[in-house]
Formats: sequence, structure tokens, C-alpha cells
Amino acid sequence: MNTVLVGAQWGDEGKGKVIDFLTEESDIVVRFQGGSNAGHTVVVGDKKYVLHLVPSGVLHDGKHCVIGNGVVMDPFDLMKEIEQVESWGFDLKGRFHISERAQMVMQWHRALDRAEEAVRPEGKKIGTTGRGIGPAYAAKVGRYGMRVGDILKPDFLDIIRSHVEDANVKLRALGAHELDADEMVRLYTPMVPALMPYVTDTIQFLHESLDAKKSVLFEGAQATMLDIDFGTYPFVTSSNPTAGGACTGSGVSPRAIDRVIGVLKLYTTRVGEGPFPTELFDADGETLRSRGGEFGATTGRPRRCGWFDAVVARYAQRVNGVDFWAMTKLDVLDTFPVVKICTGYRRKDGFVYQTFPADLDALKECEPVYEELPGWQCETSKTTDYSELPENAKAYINRILELVGGKLGVLSVGPARETTLRINI
Ligand code: GDP
Ligand code: IMO
Ligand code: MG
Repeated sequence: MNTVLVGAQWGDEGKGKVIDFLTEESDIVVRFQGGSNAGHTVVVGDKKYVLHLVPSGVLHDGKHCVIGNGVVMDPFDLMKEIEQVESWGFDLKGRFHISERAQMVMQWHRALDRAEEAVRPEGKKIGTTGRGIGPAYAAKVGRYGMRVGDILKPDFLDIIRSHVEDANVKLRALGAHELDADEMVRLYTPMVPALMPYVTDTIQFLHESLDAKKSVLFEGAQATMLDIDFGTYPFVTSSNPTAGGACTGSGVSPRAIDRVIGVLKLYTTRVGEGPFPTELFDADGETLRSRGGEFGATTGRPRRCGWFDAVVARYAQRVNGVDFWAMTKLDVLDTFPVVKICTGYRRKDGFVYQTFPADLDALKECEPVYEELPGWQCETSKTTDYSELPENAKAYINRILELVGGKLGVLSVGPARETTLRINI
């Protein structure tokens, strides 16, 4: 069984937790896009683990973890993360594989990310994570990127020097500090022997594994509404976090994918700039933020919070072909007397959008159309079986399923590993 798991909203839906849950029945977990902009949290007992580049399956000894060709990998961040994972007591040797085709995020990409964001006028800022993601993908499609395989080349350090020179031209034009090529060479020199053992042809590795009937789990980072094609462009990330990205970012054919799981938070959050039709600026938004612990796992920024948006979820169901939903954070809604679901966006002239418009200006004139449902006002975080849930919580979930399509596969009622209910997968 080969599974693609994607975020259905604007990220931070709880993908890390669900990946950790599904890893038990998988052999290999593959990251296929994004980079260290991701922050995936897994809570085991009283320990909280946050993964950025290393797949969230790593907490299961013996499972293989792959950084696929579609990822932009920052060797500096990765080295730190490898050390951290090892300090937690997990051995990566022999089970961690980095594609030689993956692009690298270098210090100059981070510098460019910050410099480009700094010169964007108010209203046009993206609120990036500052991890160099946009400039690294721009280098990839511009065909001047650096690939992981370059570290195996004897002239790797010369390649770095020439890239620093090129990047300095851009940094200068943006009024930002230039980088020192010698310093960059000093920084990257120790990374060559440290990362070399993990670099391999992951396409070959994945195909041999598939031939041997191993089960592969594809771990999406970011989410549908942050997708460079399907999201709220230009307030998006620079990759394809949607299901199709799993194929282009790993070298595995769509025909090898058996199912798609979408992770759906039972309300909505967004971190960074850009449209968010159901955003709340009142006490309800505060309650969601504080009960949900809605602060970025990568940047610590407070997340913007709002009611569940069925227009977004239905769009995500279609774009990704979601078979099963992993619904998360039901427990966060436990105290509300009323819960709301957005079913459309009403324009001033009365027209209601039932699918997400491409033109973001159209959204500026819209008000969300809400359905109100009674809350359940009791604790759900101790639930061990779906049948134990309060009727109003079931009604909320069922109404969402009716509106968005797909089946309920997994329900999460708390941050910890054991607060995950298997429903239908
Ligand atoms: P990801 O980026 O999609 O992996 O999600 P993050 O890890 O950035 O954010 C999800 C946050 O919600 C983390 O702090 C998780 O520990 C937490 N979380 C996940 N599922 C649940 C849940 O069902 N209930 C609660 N209360 N917290 C959850
Ligand atoms: P996970 O995998 C939430 C957002 C940033 C910004 C936009 C572009 O943890 O769900 P980038 O640094 O990618 O160029 O930033 O995308 N963003 C995320 N938001 N969760 C993420 O990852 C995100 N990764 C990027 O806040 O708005
Ligand atoms: Mg996250």
C-alpha cells in the first residue's frame, strides 16, 4: 500500500503526527517537496519532537527515510537536524537517504529570501519563513541551482565560490550585505564528509523497494492552499505540496499510488500573509489560538485562526483526489457553544463563490457564508473510540464530510501519539 499524505489547508494541519501514526504500517517515508520551512510535530509521551527536513517517520527505528529529488535541502539545517535526531537516540545510519538530484538551499538563498522580503512593499510581503525556499526553487527552474550531487564533485568548493559571486550581484542590487566566498567555503567544507554517506540515487532505491513490495508513505509538507499552482498565489510557497508533487518529487509513477490521505484541521489556521476568508479577529480566534497552541513550529509566529472553511476543503479534495481524511484537533473546539462552517463566499452583489476564486481581489469584497451547528461542550481528548464521541461532534464531522466529499480515515483528538483514532483505513 503506497500512500500520499497532503495538507488540505494552509499548513500545520498535524501532518507530522499523522505520518508518525501511519509509519508503523509503512517501510519507507519520503519527503518530496519543500525544505526546512516545514515544521512537523510529533508528541510521544511527554516528549515533543519537531522535524523540518528529516521525514517524520524517523522516530520509528528501522524505517527508511528519504529526501526526494523535489526537496530543497539546506545542508546547514540538515546537519543540525541529524545531530538532534541522533541526540534523541535514533540512529540514521543505513536508513536515511538523500537524493543526489535534490536541490540545495545555500546561505545566499536565505540571504536573498530575507532581502527580497525586505524590499517588498506592505501588502505585497509574503511573510516567508526566511529559510531560502523561494530563491532555491527559483535557481532550480532558472537552471542555475546547486544539486546535492555537486557535493560529490572534486571542484565543489570552486562551484561555491562562483555561486557566491553571482548571488552577491543580486544582494548588492537589493541593498543587502554581500557574502564572503572564503567564509562560505569554510562553512561548507565539513559538510561534505558528513553528508556524503547519505547521498544516493533515491529513485533507484524507491523502485527496488517497490519491486520488493515495500510500502511507501509520501509525506507532504506545507499544503494545498500554499501550492505554487493551486494556492493563493503569490502568497504561497514555491513548490507543489499537492498529491501530484509526490510523483514529480520522488520519481515514483502515479500508477504506484494506492491512496491519498488529506490532513484536515477541524478549524483553519494560516501563518504568514495572504487571504484567509474565515479569519477571526475576536475572542473566538483567541480561543482557537490558545487552546490549539497555534504558534509556528518553525518560526514561533502566532498563527492566524478562523472557522472551518468547506470551500477550501472541497477544493483540496478535488485537487488531491483525497480518498480519506485525517481530521485533527477536534478537542480544540470542545468549549465552543456554537461551531461554524463556511460554505461559500458572498460577493457584495449577492453572487456566492462555491469554489476558490483564482483572482484574490475578488475575495476582498466577499463575506463568508456560515452554517452554525451546536457545539458539544465536553472533553473529547480522552476518546478512544469514535462511538464515544458526543453526538454534536459527530454531526459536525458528518456535515463536513457531506460538504467536502471523501471518507473519514483517522481522527485526532490531542497532540500525543495515543490520541489518534483509526476509523476507516
Ligand atoms: P504539521 O506542520 O502539519 O505537521 O503540523 P504542526 O506540527 O506544525 O502543527 C500541529 C500542532 O498541533 C502541533 O503542535 C501538534 O502537536 C498539534 N496537534 C496535532 N494534532 C492535534 C490534535 O488532534 N489536538 C491537539 N490539541 N493538538 C494537535
Ligand atoms: P508545514 O509543513 C505553514 C508559509 C509561510 C509563508 C509562505 C511562503 O509545517 O505545514 P516560504 O518560506 O515557504 O517561502 O513561505 O508559506 N509556510 C508555511 N505555513 N506551515 C508550513 O509548513 C509552511 N511552510 C511555509 O508562512 O506564508
Ligand atoms: Mg508545521
